[in-house]
Amino acid sequence: MVDLYNPIYIVAIGVFILGLHRMGHPKTAKSGIMWSGFAMAAAVIITFTIPGLSNLPLILIAIAVGGAIGWFAAVRVTIADMPQMVAIYNGMGAGAAAGVASIELLRLSGSFFDLALALAGAAIGSVSISGSIIAFLKLQGWMRQRPITFVGQQGFNVAILAVSLLFGVAYLLNGSISLFGISLVVPFFVLSISYGFLMAFPIGGGDMPVVIALFNAMTGIAVAFDGFSLGNYAMMVAGIFVGAAGTLLTVAMARAMNRSLASVLFGSFGKEVEGPDTVKGTLKPIEANDAAIMLAYSERVMIVPGYGMAAAQAQFKIKELLDILLSRGIKVGFAIHPVAGRMPGHMNVLLAEAGVPYELMLDLEDANRDFPSSDVALVVGANDVVNPAAKKPGSPLYGMPILDVDKARNIIVLKRGTGKGFAGVINELFRNDKTKMLYGDATDSITKLIQGVKKL
Ligand code: TAP
Repeated sequence: MVDLYNPIYIVAIGVFILGLHRMGHPKTAKSGIMWSGFAMAAAVIITFTIPGLSNLPLILIAIAVGGAIGWFAAVRVTIADMPQMVAIYNGMGAGAAAGVASIELLRLSGSFFDLALALAGAAIGSVSISGSIIAFLKLQGWMRQRPITFVGQQGFNVAILAVSLLFGVAYLLNGSISLFGISLVVPFFVLSISYGFLMAFPIGGGDMPVVIALFNAMTGIAVAFDGFSLGNYAMMVAGIFVGAAGTLLTVAMARAMNRSLASVLFGSFGKEVEGPDTVKGTLKPIEANDAAIMLAYSERVMIVPGYGMAAAQAQFKIKELLDILLSRGIKVGFAIHPVAGRMPGHMNVLLAEAGVPYELMLDLEDANRDFPSSDVALVVGANDVVNPAAKKPGSPLYGMPILDVDKARNIIVLKRGTGKGFAGVINELFRNDKTKMLYGDATDSITKLIQGVKKL
């Protein structure tokens, strides 16, 4: 019988790539996910026809158990918990990649080159699974979110990684050498997994999304190495895609935060920036009814969502407010900063979930063009992404492109109190002469604004 799996792999790879392409736009993203998922399922099913496949019942039980847990978790997860869900699922992929590589390593039967690829896959997969577990625990709040640091940490971590690789290479060169009667492959795995834990300890909860993207890229690379080692096209291509996409996403996120990847990985960011409060001006509170009057009699309103909108789950109330403003003939736009919130596309996903039309969501350049003609900029739980300190050399935010909210004619800021943003930098926009502060949870404040506008 002719082997069908390679031609089907090629077709599946083509559909997978088309699916990825469709994920590039919110309107086609859902169908893109279906296409890629279908291609993946086809690739998995056809793998069962590869000659010499054994342990079929065990594989089917594993698929049923894993599939059921995955389905159940995916149905129950809220959008706010998505980053940790991505982290733990990425960890599962990394664990699978390390597991596949470990079988090849234990067999020690391929060429040295194939085994070296398996060793690379095993090392990268092991680091990625343990790092992803720490990322999950920190984001889920089951572990201290703050960076965990100690003296000499980076040197210690590098030494652990180097010794792990040394054991791995020694095992490849001579599989019969042992340490206290234990095969060298055991300390190789133990130290690789430990390195993943150690690598994630100094990273604060807020930086975790960038690091998850990095671990995601590493998982892809581990799968690609496994694919090369096993001669499996589907694994090679899927791994290369995930590796490349994850790397691009990591770089794009770090760039949009104006951080180098090194500062994310080693900078222990997320600690409060202490220092004298040298910002001039005072914070001027406003009552919800007065803010509602400003909104109701505007011609153009720009809503600027940030992390606080996600924390308050205020997107549904924002949609209600949007409908009321639109019904009064007011033009409304949403100014979306690329790193507003805590994960890529965070604001777009939440607003789309609430039914805000994509056409109203403006990217940074378009929004900045429209601020000068906006009567009111309504800042909902955004801080760093509207902080003019980003234009001042020496500020931790220096260089990050920001939304030019201060160009709007009036500014209303919704936040609970005087809490700082993610970077811990005081925001002089809040003391601007044009700015009024509406204190309270964003959902409560918007509810009051809706009631106020309705009365007018
Ligand atoms: P932040 O700078 O984090 O500011 C959020 C503000 O929301 C805080 O000042 C807080 O003030 C307010 N807030 C919190 N809970 C609230 C609630 N329930 N109701 C009303 N307000 C609330 O947010 P941002 O402007 O979106 O900036 C995002 C930051 O995260 C950037 O520094 C970015 O680099 C970083 N980051 C982003 C990503 C991605 S990919 N998006 C990943 C990692 C890190 P109060 O405490 O006074 O309420």
